[in-house]
Amino acid sequence: MSEHDFPGIDGFLGTRATLMLDLLVLAMFAVMLVLGWSVYQVRYRRRYQLHKWVQITLAAILLITVAMFEIDIRLHGWESRAAGSVGGSPAAIVWYSLYVHLVFALTTVLLWPVVIVLALRNFPNPPRPSLHSRIHVPLARLAAADMVMTAVTGWIFYYVAFVR
Ligand code: HEM
Repeated sequence: MSEHDFPGIDGFLGTRATLMLDLLVLAMFAVMLVLGWSVYQVRYRRRYQLHKWVQITLAAILLITVAMFEIDIRLHGWESRAAGSVGGSPAAIVWYSLYVHLVFALTTVLLWPVVIVLALRNFPNPPRPSLHSRIHVPLARLAAADMVMTAVTGWIFYYVAFVR
């Protein structure tokens, strides 16, 4: 095994990350665009049904992607790749940026299902503004902001761990 023979499949972005990490880092760009578009549709165009299905699809796709990513990480680890040598340990800043990222990632994973289940139970079907708006609008804005912070801190972690 050479020094750079890391476990797992190499990605295509030319960094030390795995294929799954590269896919996830790019997928988060798409998630940001679709999320922004969905909120625009509901806020300015009043397309509630469209917003509902975009949000549910987004959550389902993300769940599958994150599960695949977790399996990749559990199977192959990431520490050698972050350290830059097999058996090496990542720098302290890599761990700090991971912890900051995990705060947002974990709260997002908890918050999104809550927002979706509450919306499905409490908005009329087909969805339109109702009494539940008073809970949904602030809570869903928080959930959306949490997702944006998850993406931003995830990109920072990727850079610090696998590019630098
Ligand atoms: C995690 C998933 C979701 C997120 C992040 C989200 C995000 C948002 C945001 C940010 C707004 C407020 C837009 C504004 O600033 O005015 C909004 C409004 C709305 N959402 Fe969602 N949403 C989600 C899921 C759903 C689901 C599943 C439904 C339907 C069952 C739904 C129905 C609505 C409706 C009807 C409004 C309009 C409320 C009003 O203006 O009174 N949302 N959503």
